[in-house]
Amino acid sequence: MNASATPVPEPLYGGAPSGQRVSISDLASAKARGEKWPMITSYDALTARVFDEAGIPVLLVGDSAAMVVYGHDSTIPVTVDELIPLVRGVVRGSRRAMVVADLPFGSYQASPQQALETATRFMKEAGAHAVKLEGGARVLPHVELLVASGIPVMAHLGLTPQSVHAFGGYKVQGRGEDGVMLMQDAKALQAAGAFAAVLEVVPADLAASVTASLQIPTVGIGAGAGTDAQVIVWQDMAGLTPGRTAKFVKKYADVNSVLLDAASRWADDVVTGAYPSHEHSYS
Ligand code: KIV
Repeated sequence: MNASATPVPEPLYGGAPSGQRVSISDLASAKARGEKWPMITSYDALTARVFDEAGIPVLLVGDSAAMVVYGHDSTIPVTVDELIPLVRGVVRGSRRAMVVADLPFGSYQASPQQALETATRFMKEAGAHAVKLEGGARVLPHVELLVASGIPVMAHLGLTPQSVHAFGGYKVQGRGEDGVMLMQDAKALQAAGAFAAVLEVVPADLAASVTASLQIPTVGIGAGAGTDAQVIVWQDMAGLTPGRTAKFVKKYADVNSVLLDAASRWADDVVTGAYPSHEHSYS
């Protein structure tokens, strides 16, 4: 065997938790190898630990926390001060995954300077490794300033939920002529220095052609199978989200039923006196 043979790169998905965090160059190499990877949301240390152990290379502390953590009906109300402690927990709970912090509505749109101040807080106070922000041409100067300041930026196009009222609801974006604009935005964000782009609820063929046109990875959610990566809100795929979920959600577990059953059995045992038993008491 040739001892100087080039080492085979570790696959991005499935690596063991270690002191070495996944970096933006690991994501770029995965794109070059044509390797797909998963990204999942996380909002606390314990789920971060589970997803890290599952080998998921990127954890997103999404502004979806507004809905799944804080109980709002959109992502708009959540604040930087509410998200920072969640990012801290996810960073502390994980060892290998890159942790991306979402910049919430109103914390970056005003100016590139505002974006830099907010992103700096997530990096310094919470230990985030990258930030994500929504929008196309309008946020190019913001992305340029963050990247020039050493902050990795993930872009987000398509159904950007912070603009739900401008869209008139959660509707598919990028159909027809809008697809041309989305392609231009994606290329411009890449040129501005974004290291990846989320494509949310857009036609699958548009997402596939954006993916083929970019050197940076695309991360789809409701964007079909042609993107480099996929992202999901964990409560959606694990069956904790109440009511109807979007068409793109596939349920991999029924955590709602598991937790309901556990909570009900524990509560019944408390009421009947079956818990705590001798086994769960100290002498
Ligand atoms: O906030 C979030 O969870 C997101 C993903 C759905 C992409 O932005």
